[in-house]
Amino acid sequence: MAIRLWLLIHLLLIILSTISVSGNVFVSIDCGASGSYTDENSIVWTGDGDLISNGVSHTVQSNYSISRVYDTLRAFTTRKKNCYSIEAEEGGKVLVRVVFNYGNYDGKSTPPMFDLHFDGNFWITVNTSQSIYYEAIYVVKRKVISVCVAQTNPNQFPFISSLEVRSVDPRAYSHIGPDYALFMTYRIGYGLNETIRFPSDPYDRAWDPTNIGEGLLRVVNDASFINANTPNNPPQAVLKSSMTTPNTSRFITLGLGTIAYPIHYPMYINFYFIEVKRLNSTETRSFRIYIDTLPFSLPIVPRFGNATEYFISNLSVTADTQFHIVATAGSTLPPLLSAIEIFSISDALTNGTNNNDVEGLLSLQNAFDVLQKWDGDPCLPAPYSWDWIKCNDDPMPRVTSLNLNSFNLSGRLPNFSNMDALEIIDLHNNNLSGPVPDFLGTMLNLKQLNLADNQFSGSIPRSLSRNSQLNISDTGNPLLCTNNTSCPRSNSNKKRTNKFPVILAITIPVFFIL
Ligand SMILES: *[C@@H]1O[C@H](CO)[C@@H](O)[C@H](O)[C@H]1NC(C)=O
Ligand SMILES: *[C@@H]1O[C@H](CO)[C@@H](O)[C@H](O)[C@H]1NC(C)=O
Ligand SMILES: *[C@@H]1O[C@H](CO)[C@@H](O)[C@H](O)[C@H]1NC(C)=O
Ligand SMILES: *[C@@H]1O[C@H](CO)[C@@H](O)[C@H](O)[C@H]1NC(C)=O
Ligand SMILES: *[C@@H]1O[C@H](CO)[C@@H](O)[C@H](O)[C@H]1NC(C)=O
Ligand SMILES: *[C@@H]1O[C@H](CO)[C@@H](O)[C@H](O)[C@H]1NC(C)=O
Ligand SMILES: *[C@@H]1O[C@H](CO)[C@@H](O)[C@H](O)[C@H]1NC(C)=O
Ligand SMILES: *[C@@H]1O[C@H](CO)[C@@H](O)[C@H](O)[C@H]1NC(C)=O
Ligand SMILES: *[C@@H]1O[C@H](CO)[C@@H](O)[C@H](O)[C@H]1NC(C)=O
Ligand SMILES: *[C@@H]1O[C@H](CO)[C@@H](O)[C@H](O)[C@H]1NC(C)=O
Ligand SMILES: *[C@@H]1O[C@H](CO)[C@@H](O)[C@H](O)[C@H]1NC(C)=O
Ligand SMILES: *[C@@H]1O[C@H](CO)[C@@H](O)[C@H](O)[C@H]1NC(C)=O
Repeated sequence: MAIRLWLLIHLLLIILSTISVSGNVFVSIDCGASGSYTDENSIVWTGDGDLISNGVSHTVQSNYSISRVYDTLRAFTTRKKNCYSIEAEEGGKVLVRVVFNYGNYDGKSTPPMFDLHFDGNFWITVNTSQSIYYEAIYVVKRKVISVCVAQTNPNQFPFISSLEVRSVDPRAYSHIGPDYALFMTYRIGYGLNETIRFPSDPYDRAWDPTNIGEGLLRVVNDASFINANTPNNPPQAVLKSSMTTPNTSRFITLGLGTIAYPIHYPMYINFYFIEVKRLNSTETRSFRIYIDTLPFSLPIVPRFGNATEYFISNLSVTADTQFHIVATAGSTLPPLLSAIEIFSISDALTNGTNNNDVEGLLSLQNAFDVLQKWDGDPCLPAPYSWDWIKCNDDPMPRVTSLNLNSFNLSGRLPNFSNMDALEIIDLHNNNLSGPVPDFLGTMLNLKQLNLADNQFSGSIPRSLSRNSQLNISDTGNPLLCTNNTSCPRSNSNKKRTNKFPVILAITIPVFFIL
């Protein structure tokens, strides 16, 4: 009974905590796994079987096991770009985290390299020779987030171990415009003995412990309650400890040090400070941040019980750049630091493929199941467009070519009239039926239309046959008549709009006979 009650409360807590950050997004996908699983942080992970139709599930070799979530993965051997799509709120801020744990799942002992994309943007080239994770924070431009892995080298097949998306308060990390993403390099809580994440951190950021350097000291905060109510809202558990120096003549030095992948510049850095004890009337603590030898910040006076954030945005650094936190002349107490986040700033984010084309492609995907396996931005990043389209180089690319030759498409063509930048439509050798749609005639850029070897019926719409620029192939459609006069009588498939030319064709001869 007691256990049940406890379980119930625990469950309620999980549900409540999931809801409180949701209305928003809190999605945890254990790639390559089936079913769902709740981890020690109350995070509910779900398998990816319902989310993606290509790729194959694998398990890492047992001596490379990290945890249940990171031990399964999905690998992609057939297609160059493979994407997960997750619904999100347009204009909302999210944290996206992707983990790769190769674990010699294929027994080849050759960890692959491949590219990671999000929302049509290049993110990074992934080197999987060690298990690694990447995290981005950004403002979503569409209603769907896509995360894709793309093959770049022959025989090096992309894979993915887990994917997480969490909503973040829009006020957090807001010193960077909505057209840029922050790619996390480090997030460290000084003095922590374990990683702090959800549920201590509502956005499920992972605050890692680190060895505090030689000559530095760990201090625990005396405050019984810590107010972390700053825009970035770091967890109380992270602010509970700080590092400091033995006296005011010593300072804290931070280097960017060795990172497992090349740093992308410029950078965005958040420092988190908090006074660790109630100061008496003779004590003061005040310090400044230096970049290399140059003082950068004004004096910072941390408060007891309330966190202070200090950010530096768009900073050009090198791997040798050092930050120093140095006591000011009047300070009786040494400098301290509770936590730090270091990000690189992305290039300007793309707005994605032109929305008319996205909608047109969606109507094709809704009409033909076989096309639904393609996900993510259709055109971007170049050259990783979907296999069956070609795009131009516009900043918001247009789809110029639709290559659905021999795709085993069956049924009628949907209305994709808004894809009006199309120059080539190749539907050769499918099983398409019904009338050739009128709207094809409104595509003013169309130069080639291959309808050959299908089951189209009726006649070629006037709007198409009038276009002398257009090269139409329509052979191999036994039900299609290319001359009005030779059309079979039973045109029951015809749409109302098509009646107009038919009526004309009948009326005019009658008039002449009269
Ligand atoms: C796992 O075992 C293989 C041999 O079976 C060995 O080559 C490899 O180094 C081991 N990896 C780890 C992480 O222990
Ligand atoms: C991948 O990472 C490993 C170790 O981290 C490194 O030795 C190797 O050179 C990297 N590969 C490439 C192509 O950068
Ligand atoms: C880490 O420290 C906290 C208190 O600071 C303690 O409650 C917790 O048990 C420690 N965890 C580990 C893994 O040592
Ligand atoms: C500050 O601490 C360092 C190392 O503990 C020591 O060498 C130095 O003498 C101290 N300076 C003062 C002014 O106490
Ligand atoms: C303030 O605290 C320091 C260190 O605890 C102590 O040395 C000093 O005497 C105190 N001063 C007053 C006025 O209480
Ligand atoms: C701490 O924050 C609270 C609420 O934001 C505020 O009322 C209080 O004055 C702050 N305390 C200090 C020392 O700044
Ligand atoms: C970053 O700084 C560079 C010059 O140092 C400037 O050209 C660029 O516009 C800045 N970017 C942002 C996002 O502020
Ligand atoms: C995306 O759209 C916004 C607003 O419409 C615009 O300010 C921004 O420059 C566009 N970005 C690109 C890369 O075209
Ligand atoms: C073509 O599609 C039909 C159903 O529309 C399916 O039964 C058939 O297996 C498909 N053929 C190929 C080669 O994919
Ligand atoms: C072609 O489509 C028709 C219906 O439009 C269907 O009856 C037939 O089985 C399809 N043939 C193939 C080979 O898919
Ligand atoms: C096709 O869709 C467009 C817009 O998406 C619409 O304006 C047009 O009326 C539709 N045509 C037909 C025949 O439904
Ligand atoms: C269509 O008409 C042209 C001449 O008007 C003729 O040469 C051609 O064979 C006709 N095609 C069909 C399929 O009847």
